[in-house]
Amino acid sequence: MSDDPLRAAARRVLRANDTGRWTVPSPAQYPHQWNWDSAFAALGLATFSWDRAAAELEAVLDGRWREGMLPHVRYDSRRLADYFPGPDRWACAQAHVADSAIRTSGITNPPVVVTAALLVGRRQPDRERRLAFWRRTYRRLRACLDHLATARRLPGSPLVTVVHPWESGWDNSPRWDHLRAAGLRPREPYTRQDARHVPAGDRPLDADYDGYLALIELLDEADYDLEAYREVSPFCVNDVLMDALWHRAARDLGEIAGELGEPAPFDRARLDEFAAAFEERHWDPGLGLYVDWDCVAGRRVAVPTAAGVAALAGGLIGAERARATWARYRDLTAGARLVATVPPGHAAFDARRYWRGPVWAPVNWLVADGLAGAGLRDEAARVGAETLDLVRGAGFAEYFEPLTGSACGAGDFTWTAAVALDLLDR
Ligand code: DGY
Repeated sequence: MSDDPLRAAARRVLRANDTGRWTVPSPAQYPHQWNWDSAFAALGLATFSWDRAAAELEAVLDGRWREGMLPHVRYDSRRLADYFPGPDRWACAQAHVADSAIRTSGITNPPVVVTAALLVGRRQPDRERRLAFWRRTYRRLRACLDHLATARRLPGSPLVTVVHPWESGWDNSPRWDHLRAAGLRPREPYTRQDARHVPAGDRPLDADYDGYLALIELLDEADYDLEAYREVSPFCVNDVLMDALWHRAARDLGEIAGELGEPAPFDRARLDEFAAAFEERHWDPGLGLYVDWDCVAGRRVAVPTAAGVAALAGGLIGAERARATWARYRDLTAGARLVATVPPGHAAFDARRYWRGPVWAPVNWLVADGLAGAGLRDEAARVGAETLDLVRGAGFAEYFEPLTGSACGAGDFTWTAAVALDLLDR
């Protein structure tokens, strides 16, 4: 398919998934608003409907907690029967939501929404409208980053503590297999609904879901307080991608602040301290890659995944290290489509199972952005071209099988269409 029909098809997906208030990732599989999905959706929407892109981001901000956190799911009260888990599983979370009419989950996502606010804002040619959008959103964007930097900070490190695999967005990645190994079981019985519209072989295992539901119970009982939660939970991590995207968001928010004549939200010394901690915790010299840190066991999670290369988008990895990291990951994933989230030779690789190998368009967007930022423009263009090639071959799939390029998960997926639009617009 050439560029124009592809662009038209991607727009049709975004329009079909638009509820009027926000874009759902997939009407059947994910019928509510997801935080970082909407951030990517806004990048695509901004290529043809700037007002709609701005509204998408503001709908995420409307779901904020009084503490500043932007929840990973904002529920649509009309669709509660169509998705599990609903707000009843996050019972104590509801008292934290700033707007008492809104229901949310009790965890967050990487703050791509801040980066999207900068990029969407820049696409508005009218200076007054651009500044008005940033003025309307600035305090809430800042509160989200402040929340991650304070309520999610453990003593002795400025990095962000992630309390649930769903916060990372990489639900069943082998990065989080230590949760499965912990064997947690929730007290409340439950019935999964996620394999009604998608083959079970594309989805996480029951053992993973037991862990997800058990952690929700622990979080809810702790009333979402990090100190109380970590006393009882085996899962507290510094996710390499969350940390990278916090740093990127902090710099992007600084750009917005500059445009608005606001003081810098995070000073140089603070960002430097963060970057030094990132390097110390996340760089694994043995693997030659950036990986995660298990705050409970006090060690790196030595699992090679594309999270460590997507982390290049954080802007805190030097050009030489970026080049070496990318070369190393390319070696590990030789023969697979760009960018397999787990190397096919790894024991945990599973070609179709969600975050255990498949290629994801937003990850590719981050990798391409990070490579370009590190000066690897040809490599960045290659990742972008491969992403569009996958879409041309298999449609706007939720994710792609990395050996054959075939479609996995749900079809006509919002962030895949949005990323395609953004890439086509370059
Ligand atoms: C799901 O339901 O699969 C989501 O990833 C949880 O946010």
